[in-house]
Amino acid sequence: MTMDPGLDALKSRVTAASLGPEARETGTVTEIADGLAHVSGLPGARLGEVLEFTGGARGFVLNLDETTLQAAFLDATAGIEAGSTVTRTGELVSVPVGDGLFGRVVDPLGRVLDDLGPLAASEMAEVERPAPSIIARDFVSEPVETGVLVVDALFAVGRGQRELIIGERGTGKTSIAVDAILNQKDSDIVCIYVSIGQRATAVRRVIEAVRQKGAFDRTIFVVAPATSQPGLRWLAPFAATSMAETIRDRGGHALIVYDDLTKHAAVHRELALLSRQPPGREAYPGDIFYLHARLLERSAKLSKAMGGGSLTALPIAEIEAGNLSAYIPTNLISISDGQIVTSATLFAGNQRPAVDVGLSVSRVGGKAQPRALKAVAGRLRLDYAQYLEMKMFSRFGGFGDAAMKKRLARGARIGALLAQDRYSPLSTAVQVALLAALADGVLDPVAIDQFPALKAALVPLIAAEPQLAGLNVAPEVDAATRKAATDCVRTAIAKLPALPEAPTP
Ligand SMILES: Nc1ncnc2c1ncn2[C@@H]1O[C@H](COP(=O)(O)OP(=O)(O)OP(=O)(O)O)[C@@H](O)[C@H]1O
Ligand SMILES: [Mg+2]
Repeated sequence: MTMDPGLDALKSRVTAASLGPEARETGTVTEIADGLAHVSGLPGARLGEVLEFTGGARGFVLNLDETTLQAAFLDATAGIEAGSTVTRTGELVSVPVGDGLFGRVVDPLGRVLDDLGPLAASEMAEVERPAPSIIARDFVSEPVETGVLVVDALFAVGRGQRELIIGERGTGKTSIAVDAILNQKDSDIVCIYVSIGQRATAVRRVIEAVRQKGAFDRTIFVVAPATSQPGLRWLAPFAATSMAETIRDRGGHALIVYDDLTKHAAVHRELALLSRQPPGREAYPGDIFYLHARLLERSAKLSKAMGGGSLTALPIAEIEAGNLSAYIPTNLISISDGQIVTSATLFAGNQRPAVDVGLSVSRVGGKAQPRALKAVAGRLRLDYAQYLEMKMFSRFGGFGDAAMKKRLARGARIGALLAQDRYSPLSTAVQVALLAALADGVLDPVAIDQFPALKAALVPLIAAEPQLAGLNVAPEVDAATRKAATDCVRTAIAKLPALPEAPTP
């Protein structure tokens, strides 16, 4: 008996180890296509199992039929050709999870992409895990404050919700999601940004924004660039969800941004066609709906018995020519709990964020919206929608009474209020103050051009007002609080430099 418990453990492992022959199933590559291998002779292989190819490259089983299987590569495929051998590892694709990933940039297998050295993560989790059962879930009831006024006021997102951000190319989809990440700087929500098939510069921009203005050390970046193996791009959202679930299952809160699922659908189609699966509508395989449904079902608010954690998802999708009713967009819309639609027309007209308030909706977030915000945002959507309609008619010229002019002026102010630079999220207290001021007519004398300066002046005033602290969790807003908020707005207005010309109508 030695004194060293480590040595004892080692000795017992050596004695227990079997030194006999080991059974390993070996197959053969029959065909190789872009990022995908057809393999025969591995009858025991399971879906999602990791395979090892000649030279050490790995892949995972994507499809199975009676005699062959298709595996997507996870590494470079140099040296692999028809006739190469393949062995089973018996393991399903797994990724590192845990706090060691915070503040790191990794690929979908958890391999480090930044220069901060090896990961401190020790646990591993399979990338495909079942979604929480109905019993394990609770209703969405607490807010995720995105800091984007138009979203928080009109399309509130709750913890555990799946809110799609959908719109044409370059209409500010990523910016809205990144703002939501930046706004978690002082919250208890951990953010995971998953980049699927994006240009490296676009990913870089997001990482830098979070580094400068967000809680970088509580954010995880999972990156599968456009140049990576299709198998890696395919895995990215699933792998990142496993990392996020670990936070949820420990009773914590996580927010995951999938940027974007249109590109993920495209890589799924690419791999399916290479696997010779029968193509369906728009050449997507029949399981494309199930693919994203099983992914997004993993976002949930857990019941108290399960720890009460949550995983909120902001999947992003791209549409062409404003067509929301194409195959993938309709699928994603039906899987999620609402959508924020960005409009190319609004974007071109300089309304940013270019959120189309008519087409956007949040199906469960209203119940989670902070009370204070709900109290002042009540009529906003209707007033704004009416204004947009009236504006169209008033273009035809000269008619309109004083009441209509007043409504137009108020509507223009709503538009100016909802406009917001990216990377400058607003706290709930600032949002409440602005909306209360709008409702009370305090903003009527402010010229449209002065709105950005007004918001900038308001932020420190609100932060310094003790009566407004905790407004985001307050059960109600009493008259005194509301007055304190609008008084801050009045003070900010008084500080504004006068504009040379008369206020625009
Ligand atoms: N709130 C905003 N304020 C000012 N500019 C904005 C705002 N949102 C977006 N932009 C501008 O629009 C550009 C495109 O935004 P973003 O990258 O978020 O759009 P996207 O829809 O994600 O684009 P893509 O389809 O290329 O992914 C940005 O580079 C930025 O200059
Ligand atoms: Mg984008």
